[in-house]
Amino acid sequence: MFYYMPVKIYAEDGCVKNHAADIAAYGKKALIVTGRHSAELCGALGDVKSVLDEKGIAYVHYNEVEENPSVETIMKARDLGLAEHADFVIGIGGGSPMDAAKAIALMLRHSDKDASYLYEKGADSTALPIIEIPTTCGTGSEVTAVSILTRHDTHSKGSIPHKIFGNLALLDARYLESASPSTLASTAIDAFAHLTESYISSDATQFSRNLSLTGLRTWAGCKDILLGIRPADPAARKQMLLASTYGGMAIAHTGTSVPHALSYTLTYNLHMKHGKACGHFLANYMREASPADTARVLKAAGFSSVEDYEDFYDVVCHRETIPENILKLAVKDVLAHPDKMKKAPFHVDESVLERIAGNPD
Ligand SMILES: [Fe+2]
Repeated sequence: MFYYMPVKIYAEDGCVKNHAADIAAYGKKALIVTGRHSAELCGALGDVKSVLDEKGIAYVHYNEVEENPSVETIMKARDLGLAEHADFVIGIGGGSPMDAAKAIALMLRHSDKDASYLYEKGADSTALPIIEIPTTCGTGSEVTAVSILTRHDTHSKGSIPHKIFGNLALLDARYLESASPSTLASTAIDAFAHLTESYISSDATQFSRNLSLTGLRTWAGCKDILLGIRPADPAARKQMLLASTYGGMAIAHTGTSVPHALSYTLTYNLHMKHGKACGHFLANYMREASPADTARVLKAAGFSSVEDYEDFYDVVCHRETIPENILKLAVKDVLAHPDKMKKAPFHVDESVLERIAGNPD
């Protein structure tokens, strides 16, 4: 059995300021990578800038990472980092800026390569040092080696083949305070999907399963917040962020499975939020899995049945009926990547995929 997690993690209020010396140790000039507004609104960007100022570290800020970042965005940010001689990268935000930070750090390290290097299998994956600061509670990207990018040339979204872990993850749950209820809901469902797909995976081990179960139990305590029964408070935000990181640690080992593989078609074609798209397929995935595995996941997450989860998803994510042609396309996309089907610990063929993709009756 094997488990590898090279990311140094601090989880506490004020951890950016508390660990200024750690941040300053990675270089002399930082490229800060964010989306347009949320990193600033939540206070994380201000904390990072004040720590860099205090330590005399120069920085340049790229704030144009869109949701589901494109290869073009990665190359624009790389060009800025090269022109400014950045020697480390700080990603602040949800999955998009954090995934982008990894790909940008890769391309900065391989400054003589063009965008095709992002998709070069078996190539050197070393990157500049990366610090990740999550401001949502779903992606787990701060502790995974995955970078998911949108390719407009092939009209698709998926992981690049490089595996790039960050060096340092700073988890301050106060940064979740400004996230909207719909962002919290979608990202929290993404965390649940990571924990569930990792548990019900052919690559699961005792290590990864314990991370999944601990994450699911941690996540379960926040369901009433997602349902709007009680407001989020600081303690709950900490639990939501931790659950998300446990999910990241679990999928860092196993990868995700069929629901994630199907979800990318929905996100690309319908612009559906990532967590909502993954959660759409989870109930049917659990129905195909071994009853014992499904029962353990449901129990840890505090659901009485698969239908109980389905009801929860309907309320929290406002389930949409997916057009048949998009579901067919999703199945076709996954069939084209048999490695994704192998992640399920049960036989998956076209008819099983169709059942998992199927709309509820
Ligand atoms: Fe995900």
